[in-house]
Amino acid sequence: MTEALWGWPPPVLDPAGPYSQQVTVLAWALFGLGVFVTAIVVAALWIAIKGPAGWKAKLGGERAVWIGGVAFPGVVLTALLVWGLTLTANLTEPIRGDEMRIRITGEMWWFRVQYLDQSGAVVIEDANEIHIPVNQPVVLELESADVIHSFWVPHLSGKKDMIPGRRTLLRIEADRAGEFGGVCAEYCGGQHALMGFVAIAHEEIDYRRWRAARTDRLASVGDDQPAQERQQIAPAERSGMASTTSSPRASIEDAGLVSGRDLFMESGCAACHRIAGTEANGLAGPDLTHVGSRRTLGAGILPNHRGTMIGWIGDSQSIKPGNRMPSYDMLSAEELEAIAIWLEQQK
Ligand code: CUA
Repeated sequence: MTEALWGWPPPVLDPAGPYSQQVTVLAWALFGLGVFVTAIVVAALWIAIKGPAGWKAKLGGERAVWIGGVAFPGVVLTALLVWGLTLTANLTEPIRGDEMRIRITGEMWWFRVQYLDQSGAVVIEDANEIHIPVNQPVVLELESADVIHSFWVPHLSGKKDMIPGRRTLLRIEADRAGEFGGVCAEYCGGQHALMGFVAIAHEEIDYRRWRAARTDRLASVGDDQPAQERQQIAPAERSGMASTTSSPRASIEDAGLVSGRDLFMESGCAACHRIAGTEANGLAGPDLTHVGSRRTLGAGILPNHRGTMIGWIGDSQSIKPGNRMPSYDMLSAEELEAIAIWLEQQK
């Protein structure tokens, strides 16, 4: 996450889509104007100290104050305000009919991500990662579950507050595939600095493949789904699971991973985390249905692999003090690993 935010040029000046392009134009205009005004101030300072007597008198006159102190800033700032608002108006205008929608809720200190259909119903639950197709505007419905957060993925758009009890809109769009780091940009408590996410822009075909894999998994674990849909799971997408069985649960048991699953349920993880198709149905924490495929853990702060998963479950309070998940330091290393292995399978 942080790697994606660093580098040169800084993300704000390295737009990867039309909306961020507008913001970049505005940023350069403000920077240029700032340099211009600074030059005038420095010149006036030089005149006041070392300039000829005639210039000094003019600079100290009432006329200079009215022009330089009232008229110039008044006109320039008003023009900038109108231009800036017009330039970025399309980032936040109301949803048009068939636009792709994602609801993102700021929580202390992570992002809940819900992909919506045209009617606004949730179709995919995820966290701390946003997948979008390139060259398509995506409307984000920003909300907050607790305090004010701010959603910011500088390569793809402007910055927008997430306010409790309100829904704000922000459009993002990428014109090239890639991974773009994002952060919470409004101080929201102790771990504000460790509240990040990754936005991943896919080529159209890759995006459809990603979406199909998610949908297939949901279909495969839903007990009420017709058997025909279950068979649509591409074996290649189900790496690590026996592809010949129709139920992932059975294949997990085949692979000897049942203890990780049991430990997850018995240790109380399921009270806060949901994994579609299992009895884990908690809503307080990030949805883990697809956790095995995520780039990061702990809301953008750790790479996602078995070692960090073990560390996070065992001692998340040392990694991100004050976060709402207790450290499970009562579990043994073997037990932590068993849970981590099982979570790796949740793709
Ligand atoms: Cu959430 Cu800062």
